[in-house]
Amino acid sequence: MNEHGAPVLYAIVTGSPIAGDVGTLVDLARGDGWDVCVVASPYGRRFIDVAALEARTGHPVRSEYKMPGTPDVLPPPDAMAAAPLTCNSLAKWAVGISDTLPLGLLVEGVGMRVPIVAVPASNRAQIGFPPLRAAARNLGEWGVTVLGEEVYPQPEPRAGGHRHLFPWAEVWRAVLEHPWRTV
Ligand SMILES: Cc1cc2nc3c(=O)[nH]c(=O)nc-3n(C[C@H](O)[C@H](O)[C@H](O)COP(=O)(O)O)c2cc1C
Repeated sequence: MNEHGAPVLYAIVTGSPIAGDVGTLVDLARGDGWDVCVVASPYGRRFIDVAALEARTGHPVRSEYKMPGTPDVLPPPDAMAAAPLTCNSLAKWAVGISDTLPLGLLVEGVGMRVPIVAVPASNRAQIGFPPLRAAARNLGEWGVTVLGEEVYPQPEPRAGGHRHLFPWAEVWRAVLEHPWRTV
């Protein structure tokens, strides 16, 4: 909750061009009265308009762990959306690697039973790699809502042009329907 009692969504983006459309999720959540903070991996940051998102959300876009003694500039999350989630971050999350701020929040978030929705976004060949399929399956078993092929069919390698199909409305609906939600 933020200081006004509004629920808080962390919209977490990683290194895919689809990150550039996270404003769609920001608007959906804000339209339902949520406060939204965008958190980007260093790679994800390349694909977003940081200044525009900061103006839209009223919060800094964080990408780095904070140092001891520095203030926590974001309110604590009531839910998180990891969308788009790269293959890189999917694989690392599922084994507990936290070498970016998004991964640290996601690993900790599962342990804290924060409702989390994830949408892996790459291509069919990469997502089909057995350890990545296992990562998505494991995260689902640990309470994460992973939206897969039935919601977002992955493009073929080098097909391109898939960004407009990304299921932002389904991401937001899945956050609202997450069984761990308390607010
Ligand atoms: C132009 C461009 C597009 C990319 N698109 C994707 C993508 O859609 N999915 C993906 O898994 N990786 C994609 N990558 C690769 C990731 O950015 C790369 O694996 C990076 O290390 C991810 O780091 P992160 O998971 O910390 O964001 C792309 C890279 C570039 C340069």
